[in-house]
Amino acid sequence: MEIIEVKNYDELSTVTADLIEKQIKMKEDSVLGLATGSSPVGTYKELIKRNLDFSKVRTINLDEYRGLAPDNKQSYIYFMRDNLFNHVNIKDENINIPNGLAEEGFEECLRYDKCIEDLGGIDLQLLGLGLNGHIGFNEPNTEFVKGTHVVTLSQSTIDANSRFFENYEEIPREAITMGIKSIMDAGHIVLIVNGAKKASILKDALCGPITPNVQASILQLHNNVTIVADKEALSELKKTF
Ligand code: GLP
Repeated sequence: MEIIEVKNYDELSTVTADLIEKQIKMKEDSVLGLATGSSPVGTYKELIKRNLDFSKVRTINLDEYRGLAPDNKQSYIYFMRDNLFNHVNIKDENINIPNGLAEEGFEECLRYDKCIEDLGGIDLQLLGLGLNGHIGFNEPNTEFVKGTHVVTLSQSTIDANSRFFENYEEIPREAITMGIKSIMDAGHIVLIVNGAKKASILKDALCGPITPNVQASILQLHNNVTIVADKEALSELKKTF
């Protein structure tokens, strides 16, 4: 595991964009596993600025809310189009994200797993970290769920996401998320974390026991993980050395 300490969010974004740029230049038809949330917004801005060739790049997103239509501004497909896809030359057919409107959740999960398999796996998986240690929407649990599955969002996640919604009632209670095995099968995992509020959970994830109660702790078992984190996020972890 490599930990890159950055001084602020701008540097986090440029360093992460460097890693993604390198991946695309090394393999023009790379499969990028992409994340939403506030952590990767700067990285996407930076990638757009660099005018990279996305014409052969394939993407697979971690998750999507259930029940939100693609034109809903809070849906993750809307977020991805707004923050990245509409500004680079990626082909529409190369964009993959769970269908939040699928009525049969189970069928949609099978379709998504098949989609990951057909892509030949993920070359680089970008991850943010939930306040409760979730990656994608793999919430604290008694097990690590391998494949794509429907999740009931935890109260802490609903509260954390409430900042994006006007009314509390509008916040989706369910999502579809890629499973832990698909994430762990990625060739390279890049976890980006910033801010003091993530310091304690980052320490638990990287130095604590490997437990499904902190889903990100499984990353300790991956042999090619890069953590890009600012000083504030690393503050608790540093105390353990
Ligand atoms: C969301 C997403 C995750 C994301 C996490 C952290 O719920 N499903 O993929 O990594 O929460 O979000 P943020 O980067 O806004 O802190």
